[in-house]
Amino acid sequence: MTRVRLLLIGPPGVGKGTQAGIISRKFGIPQIATGDMLRQEVKNASDLGTKAKAYMDRGELVPDSLVISMLEQRLQGKDAGKGFILDGFPRTVAQADALEIKFRELGIDRFLVIEFKVNEESIITRLSARRVCSKCGKIYNMLTEPPLKDGLCNECGSSLYQRDDDKETTIRERFKVYNSKTAPLTEYYANKGLLKTVRADGSIESINSDVTAIIEKAFHG
Ligand code: AP5
Repeated sequence: MTRVRLLLIGPPGVGKGTQAGIISRKFGIPQIATGDMLRQEVKNASDLGTKAKAYMDRGELVPDSLVISMLEQRLQGKDAGKGFILDGFPRTVAQADALEIKFRELGIDRFLVIEFKVNEESIITRLSARRVCSKCGKIYNMLTEPPLKDGLCNECGSSLYQRDDDKETTIRERFKVYNSKTAPLTEYYANKGLLKTVRADGSIESINSDVTAIIEKAFHG
C-alpha cells in the first residue's frame, strides 16, 4: 500500500486541523501541524517560541528560516516514515522549495496537496467560536459542535481555551497574509499536477468524505 502523504493548504479557520485530525485517525498517520508545534514552543518558552510569539500574535507568518528547520527536524521523526499530513506547511514559496529539497533527500516522490476553499465571512464566525482542548488538542465549534459539558473536552475532560490569535482584527490580518503569501502556492502545485481542491463549507462529515475519496483514489486506487 502506498504511504499517504498530504499537504493541506487553506485560509485560517477553513478546517485544516479538523480534517487533519480525522484523516490522521483514519489512516494511522501523524498530523504535523506547524501552528500547534509553534504554540507548544511558545508554551515551553523556548528560544524559538519566544521569537515566534510576536509574529503569531500579530497574525503574521513566523520567518521561513525558523519554521523550515523546525519542520525538517519533525519529518525525520520515525512516525513520519509511515506517511503524514502536513497541516499548515508550506505557507510560502520559499517553504515549498525547501520542502521539495527535503523530500528529495528523504526519497519521497509521491504526495498530494489538498486546498480547502470557503467564504471569508463564514470563517470569521467560525474562528470566533473556536475552542481547543488544552490537553488533547481536540477542536470545538461552540455554535455547531459545543462540548457536552461547558468548557470541558468530551474526550479527556480537560479545560478548553480560546487561541490568542482568534480575535477579529487578528483573523482579518491572517487572511491578508494568506492571500498575499500562501495563496500563490495553489498555482505552484497546480502547475506540478499535484493540487486537488475541496469546497469546505459543508458539514465536517461531508468534507471528510470528499477528502477520503481523493486520498483513496490517489494512493490506493
Ligand atoms: P495555524 O495554527 O496553522 O492557523 P491557521 O492556518 O490560521 O489555521 P487555523 O488553525 O486557524 O484553522 P484550521 O484551518 O486548522 O481550522 P480548524 O480545523 O481549527 O497557524 C497559526 C500561526 O502560526 C500563523 O498565523 C503563523 O503565525 C504561525 N505559523 C504556522 N505555520 C506556519 C508556517 N508554515 N510558516 C510561518 N508561520 C506559521 O477549524 C476552525 C473552526 O471551525 C473550529 O472551531 C472548528 O470546529 C470549526 N469547523 C471546522 N470545520 C467546520 C465545518 N465544516 N463546519 C463548521 N465548523 C467547522
